[in-house]
Amino acid sequence: MPKLSHRITGPEDMSILTNMNLQLLEDEQHRDRKSLPQLEERMRGWLSGEYRGVIFSQVDEPVAYALYRPDRDSIYLRQFFVARHCRRQGIGKEAMEILATQVWPPDIRITIEVLSHNQIAQAFWKAVGFRDYAITMEKQLP
Ligand SMILES: CC(C)(COP(=O)(O)OP(=O)(O)OC[C@H]1O[C@@H](n2cnc3c(N)ncnc32)[C@H](O)[C@@H]1OP(=O)(O)O)[C@@H](O)C(=O)NCCC(=O)NCCS
Repeated sequence: MPKLSHRITGPEDMSILTNMNLQLLEDEQHRDRKSLPQLEERMRGWLSGEYRGVIFSQVDEPVAYALYRPDRDSIYLRQFFVARHCRRQGIGKEAMEILATQVWPPDIRITIEVLSHNQIAQAFWKAVGFRDYAITMEKQLP
């Protein structure tokens, strides 16, 4: 398993986070097409509010991040991303293990939202112990 270090993000991490956020939206094929400055502004707002970020590094190179919001009795994991060139090496799994054992309180429920076409993410979340809970449905009115 890869050996990751981790740190809670600070203001100096904004460009690492927004660059990875842009790649995350591309990989998810998200409808949300924001520019880097827009993503940075949104990220700043989240982190100055209720959200916390964690960057995971391998030999000093940032390779993954998580953005989450602690709620009263659960954690909402809003963003989770592993750099493209180092996927399928167990980094995502180890990062989730670090969050569960060193960052988040024990015995807490974690929730995520996954786009229904993001089959890779669904396979990953199931592999690390998540199960289906709700389905968001939509209809675009003419
Ligand atoms: C989803 C993601 C975080 C997985 O990270 P990763 O470091 O590659 O995952 P791991 O190597 O720890 O994989 C753990 C297990 O998840 C499953 N998995 C991961 N990637 C998979 C893939 N491409 N296809 C099928 N199963 C996969 C496998 O069971 C894997 O175990 P195995 O390699 O022993 O078979 C990464 O692909 C990513 O950042 N994707 C783009 C962003 C994204 O979609 N984020 C989630 C939004 S909800």
